[in-house]
Amino acid sequence: MTNKQKKIVVVSNRVPYKIVRIKESIKYKKSVGGLVTALDPILSKKGGLWAGWNGLVGKQKYAEQTVEMEGGYSVKFLGLSRQDVKDFYHGFSNRTIWPLFHGFIFQSFFDLNYWDSYKNINQYFADKILEEVKGDEVLWIQDYHLMLVPSLLRKALPGSKILFFLHIPFPSFEIFRVLPWNKMILEGLMGADVLGFQTKGDARNFLYNCSRALGMPVDYDTGRLDRGDRPVHVKNFPISIDFKKFDSLAKAISTNNRVRLFKREHKNQKFIISVERLDYTKGIKERLLSIKRFFEKYPEYKKRVIFVQVSVPSRTKITEYRHFKREIDQLVGNINGQFADELWTPINYIYKTIPQEILISYYKASDVCLVTPLRDGMNLIAKEYVSCNPDGDGMLVLSRFAGSADEMQKNSIMVNPYDFEGVADGIKAALEMSRNEKRKNMAALRKIVQENDVFNWANQFLNYSIER
Ligand code: UDP
Ligand code: G6P
Repeated sequence: MTNKQKKIVVVSNRVPYKIVRIKESIKYKKSVGGLVTALDPILSKKGGLWAGWNGLVGKQKYAEQTVEMEGGYSVKFLGLSRQDVKDFYHGFSNRTIWPLFHGFIFQSFFDLNYWDSYKNINQYFADKILEEVKGDEVLWIQDYHLMLVPSLLRKALPGSKILFFLHIPFPSFEIFRVLPWNKMILEGLMGADVLGFQTKGDARNFLYNCSRALGMPVDYDTGRLDRGDRPVHVKNFPISIDFKKFDSLAKAISTNNRVRLFKREHKNQKFIISVERLDYTKGIKERLLSIKRFFEKYPEYKKRVIFVQVSVPSRTKITEYRHFKREIDQLVGNINGQFADELWTPINYIYKTIPQEILISYYKASDVCLVTPLRDGMNLIAKEYVSCNPDGDGMLVLSRFAGSADEMQKNSIMVNPYDFEGVADGIKAALEMSRNEKRKNMAALRKIVQENDVFNWANQFLNYSIER
């Protein structure tokens, strides 16, 4: 079997479907997040197996099943106990690694129970994968929850093709060395043949960490790490979306009808949209303060602009996320209370998951998309917005701290999300940009996303891995 024909086995913390029980029957509902948006079309096209947690807390009844999905690939559901969810998922993954890797050191918890659970669950995932594979597959491990899995698999399958992709940023040496188990994580990752990161900066950070923490010889130009027994290749592969799907849905009659209705109801008003999981890394609080500043500084825009803030409930059992939600609710209330009148409310705050077909009409109807994370691995919203803008009349305001800024900065209005004055000015500039200039920018951005879509991303990653 040639490398190209090998079966792909994707492993991530969460599989792309949630199990929902409706009366006596079981239904599978798509989960939300960049990882699913990117990898689902790849497996649908190539086929294969996707293994990961079933998203349920301690319901072993729904674990260990492998289901052939309509999408064209199989899903293996793994179960986690209540304690595993607490220590591994909420704990080490999302209260230690997530904040630390996004640069929120003082929000990271270094708890030995969390670490022990992380090690156990990584072993459990590795064991479950080993039950499914013969060794001639391409094993593609995803994201920060499973950073020990590559080396655990390598021990059992020394000759296998093992790949890893990190969807979030990789921190600098000064930040990463704060983690008491930093060396074990580096060793865990190095079980892979190829390690993919979102940006050049992330790949360099990883290499520098290996050189400083482990004393390994690294080659920054080729991304090659020499471990003695075998090489490890490190490279940036910026993740993307299925451009064609978003573009054609944006042109669909149903989308146009929705957009027309929306615009008819809000004549003479401009729309600015922001979409994300309700996560403190996404810069929602700073964005709201910038919006406040915008109306204070440019009062002529009162009644003429509406901000649509879509916040998807996320990790709601984690204390930091609950506190953050309360803070955002309050801030939206304060700003709306300060500026609204009987006919106009400046912020339309939607706290729910919006199906992607509807989201596409929101994107298309919006004059500006405001993507202002404090730190983000990539941020697919920026790419989705431009893909849904075939007429080219929209404008993207983008944080310089999003991974997508590497590819999209030239034709967007770049902002520092901590600089409220700058963001307020960026919003004004986007609203006032001439139609010609917007079309030029949007055409360039669309070309970038079209030429670097998610199929391209997967092919580049897989071909690069096959050649090595
Ligand atoms: N998304 C969605 N419905 C929503 C909000 C978001 O389907 O109501 C999707 C969105 O289309 C995008 C993904 O969630 O594909 C978010 O990806 P991103 O990389 O921006 O952020 P992440 O959640 O991975 O941090
Ligand atoms: C980010 C992570 C993904 C994760 C997603 C949703 O995109 O990189 O690994 O699946 O957020 O988060 P959740 O905690 O709901 O799985």
